[in-house]
Amino acid sequence: MSLHQLIYLSKASRALTSVDFLEILEVAKRNNASLGVTGSLFYNGGWFLQVLEGDVTVINSLYRRIEQDERHQQSQVIFLEPASCRVFSRWTMNMINLEKERDSKYDILVDVIKAATRGGLVEGLSPAVKLLKVFSSDHLFHSAC
Ligand SMILES: Cc1cc2nc3c(=O)[nH]c(=O)nc-3n(C[C@H](O)[C@H](O)[C@H](O)COP(=O)(O)O)c2cc1C
Repeated sequence: MSLHQLIYLSKASRALTSVDFLEILEVAKRNNASLGVTGSLFYNGGWFLQVLEGDVTVINSLYRRIEQDERHQQSQVIFLEPASCRVFSRWTMNMINLEKERDSKYDILVDVIKAATRGGLVEGLSPAVKLLKVFSSDHLFHSAC
């Protein structure tokens, strides 16, 4: 097992409903649990950003399956690196719809997604690194990092 983190960005192919989000999350939780994959899925302004953590072979093949999904398009991997620990150890998959979040602590994640779509930086860091940094220090997530 070679623990890696893969982060990709994609664009929703249509206006997705809360039922669509629930369906994605339910299937993701079920499959990821049996694959030993953890992570989180973020959504804002028609864009997805997803973190997949697990064995490199497993997350690569899972990503190849996910990228074929017709509910999103223009998928691109922005980060694939070895990791010493799981940032999202608590979740086989978790969904954060930033359009629905009231908590201002998530504002930075809107900036992360916007920077990722522009290919820019957030506070001097790549969007993927910033995202992992935010959650590494978030006790709610019981990060093992
Ligand atoms: C944005 C997005 C994220 C997804 N994330 C996952 C995931 O983490 N794990 C997963 O198994 N499927 C995920 N899916 C669903 C897969 O594309 C695919 O529908 C599913 O894996 C098929 O599983 P099944 O053969 O058990 O029905 C995601 C789909 C979308 C659109």
